[in-house]
Amino acid sequence: MDDAGQDLHAVGHGGRKVGGQAIAKGDWLMLCYASGNRDEAVFDEPDRFRADRKPNKQLAFGYGAHLCLGQHLAKMEMRILYEELLPRLQSVELAGEPRMSEALFVNGLKRLPIRFKFS
Ligand code: HEM
Repeated sequence: MDDAGQDLHAVGHGGRKVGGQAIAKGDWLMLCYASGNRDEAVFDEPDRFRADRKPNKQLAFGYGAHLCLGQHLAKMEMRILYEELLPRLQSVELAGEPRMSEALFVNGLKRLPIRFKFS
């Protein structure tokens, strides 16, 4: 699995089907975002990173009533990184051992020591 948020858990309210499977009231569900984001019924080439997908029904920020409240801030931070910081970056190199997070929910780098120069 390799999404920023790997999975959440939920309890079924009943009366729904997911992929042909009935969800009963009280069923425990694991919502696996990494799997949903590689669903071959939804995405062409689901295992390829393609920033130009349109439409892009990715689930990284969840879906429905609890859709991530901070998604616009997170997207703005990424836009600023690409538009403002990367063009000024003269060089970047590893300056230590990277460490991944070891949490069940949040995935990604916990530590990435780098040495960089701005122009
Ligand atoms: C890349 C960064 C982020 C990712 C991948 C992410 C992902 C998610 C996901 C998967 C959910 C659950 C949605 C669901 O239950 O269906 C969520 C909920 C939430 N996120 Fe984020 N998030 C990010 C950044 C942020 C930031 C920066 C903030 C606040 C400044 C934030 C605030 C929240 C809040 C308050 C909720 C709960 C919404 C609710 O339950 O109604 N998130 N996020």
